[in-house]
Amino acid sequence: MTKQLRRVEVSLGERSYDILIGYNILQQFSLSLRERCSEKEIILISDTTVYGLYGQQLIKYLTNDDWKVIEYIMPTGEEAKSWNQAGSILTKMLEANLSRNSSVIALGGGVVGDMAGFAAALYRRGVNFYQIPTTLLAQVDSSVGGKVAVNHPLGKNMIGTFYQPQEVWTDLTLLDTLPLEEWRAGLAEVVKYGVIWDEDFFLFLETNADKVLQRSAEVVPDLIKRCCQIKAEIVSQDERDEGLRNILNFGHTIGHALESATQYKKYRHGEAVAVGMLGAFLLAQQMNMLDAEVVERFRKLLIKWGLPCSFSSCLLEKAVHNLIYDKKVAQQKLVFILPQKLGKVVIEKGITQELVESAMEKLLIKETSL
Ligand SMILES: NC(=O)c1ccc[n+]([C@@H]2O[C@H](COP(=O)([O-])OP(=O)(O)OC[C@H]3O[C@@H](n4cnc5c(N)ncnc54)[C@H](O)[C@@H]3O)[C@@H](O)[C@H]2O)c1
Ligand SMILES: [Zn+2]
Repeated sequence: MTKQLRRVEVSLGERSYDILIGYNILQQFSLSLRERCSEKEIILISDTTVYGLYGQQLIKYLTNDDWKVIEYIMPTGEEAKSWNQAGSILTKMLEANLSRNSSVIALGGGVVGDMAGFAAALYRRGVNFYQIPTTLLAQVDSSVGGKVAVNHPLGKNMIGTFYQPQEVWTDLTLLDTLPLEEWRAGLAEVVKYGVIWDEDFFLFLETNADKVLQRSAEVVPDLIKRCCQIKAEIVSQDERDEGLRNILNFGHTIGHALESATQYKKYRHGEAVAVGMLGAFLLAQQMNMLDAEVVERFRKLLIKWGLPCSFSSCLLEKAVHNLIYDKKVAQQKLVFILPQKLGKVVIEKGITQELVESAMEKLLIKETSL
């Protein structure tokens, strides 16, 4: 029986592809793959956690008399997104003598997706790539748009390219096992789409905040579809991140500064982005671009979802220092993506360090007096 699928197209000319969204769709994915692929060779890339949960099930669907399926299971965690790991995957593919028409399947979160896409782009100058994203962040963000990369000791995601998949299969059932903290972190990227692009979507999230937090099937399919549509729309206008796509970095300037000030150990990415987005709201308010009431609505939603709205004062100096080294710094002035109203942001180029510092001071955890 064919399960009901929601479909989002990422329109990129000859590199266009579909994102297919539904519950319990791994078997459907396997059947569709068999129909599409001329070469019956697959490498499945996953991490130990996700493979432990879903690997065998997928392998069972994929394996068929004349199909060759090999597996590469990487350690869980950001450290595994490395050049060395990419090398090991490519070695495994060569040892298995996979052809140019073979397929790479990524089953996992953003780490696995970025890593597998990177290997797929390099192996024999590029083989078929399919994504099965398993975290909320991966389903609404990293699996859409074709950025693939590994980390370098000198910087995150510094070694990479653009490589679009053939298809993305977004199975919502897989989200059931996602830890609450990972769900919350993904919600930060979800609300970002409302702020940068779609006021109605923001209203939808506000109105359904409890159901969203509880992962209710009443709201999750539409929520994920809308996020994919928005990212697809932005990416299709600016695939290589030369202009419009920058707005997806809303909240990321302060967010990255906090992540790097804490050696990427204290915050999940989405948590740091939550604080960073609130910082951008406060900055916009300070510049009289928007009302305090809007800022408070945004803060309230973060609080409801248990996302952080402040950070410790001992991080301030380091975080400000890191901001200066942010890739978007130009001639001593900082570039910031700032909200003008819900659903609309602008790229502001002339932000001074003083302005940012004073917005960031408003984010400091209030010390309670004894
Ligand atoms: N390519 C892009 O455009 C893009 C965009 C945003 C982020 N990223 C990258 O994505 C990465 C972060 O992705 P992430 O947040 O998905 O992290 P992740 O891949 O590390 O996954 C988070 C944790 O959840 C576990 N997990 C995954 N799916 C699960 C499931 N269904 N049930 C239970 N546990 C599960 C993983 O094993 C891991 O421990 C970063 O490396 C970031 O740079 C890429
Ligand atoms: Zn992000």
